[in-house]
Amino acid sequence: MALLEVNHLVVHYGKALALDGVSLTVEEGELVAVLGPNGAGKSTLLKAVSRAVPSTGEILFKGRSLQRLPAHRVVAEGISHCPEGRRLFPELSVFKNLMLGAYLRRDKPAIEADLARVYALFPVFRERTGQQANTLSGGEQQMVAIGRALMAHPHLLLLDEPSVGLAHRLKREIFDAIRDIRESGTAILLVEQDARSALTLADRVYVMEHGRIVKEGAAERLADDDMIRRVYLGV
Ligand SMILES: Nc1ncnc2c1ncn2[C@@H]1O[C@H](COP(=O)(O)OP(=O)(O)O)[C@@H](O)[C@H]1O
Ligand SMILES: [Mg+2]
Repeated sequence: MALLEVNHLVVHYGKALALDGVSLTVEEGELVAVLGPNGAGKSTLLKAVSRAVPSTGEILFKGRSLQRLPAHRVVAEGISHCPEGRRLFPELSVFKNLMLGAYLRRDKPAIEADLARVYALFPVFRERTGQQANTLSGGEQQMVAIGRALMAHPHLLLLDEPSVGLAHRLKREIFDAIRDIRESGTAILLVEQDARSALTLADRVYVMEHGRIVKEGAAERLADDDMIRRVYLGV
């Protein structure tokens, strides 16, 4: 049984069709990347899985349907969504932003352990725990957003374009962190603009266009695919 199984997912915004029957799986501990041009429906896919937008079709997590659950229950089931554009509380400290990710939890010792894990993953926060989020650089804000998502202790992390707009060095730090998170056993569904990095990091890749999956396969195999090389790698 896959950790996440999505079947024939359809999302409309008004009359516009944003997801046109998407099916995919994420296995336990797997890192799956979704590539595709702007407007392909990648963010909508993550929002549908986290129940932030209504959809039809099937979303099974650990074999159970999420389709009737409200978004906060999906978090409690073990899916945490780090959205596009970070969405931090700008006036709040790093610490308070991180702790918002744990708002549904009551297991204090485990929360402390996860906080320690986030500070180990992003040591830059150690001296900055009281700093207001809007005074951090873009890359640091992205790290807080990922850290906040981890504070829900997810089994599956949904990451929407974590490296967008970042300089090379910070991008690398973010990708290193994603690799660490995955190595600690958390499955990841990653939407990423940087196809080269996504193909390096991921186990499997889906390519979306116009609300549909147009290609899928092992990352190693897709890295050699003619269409992928031409359109996404520019070689
Ligand atoms: N809140 C919304 N209202 C109306 N249309 C939307 C909304 N969000 C996204 N869309 C449209 O749905 C399609 C898919 O968008 P999105 O999932 O954000 O794509 P991607 O993340 O791949 O760039 C696009 O045509 C986009 O314009
Ligand atoms: Mg998007």
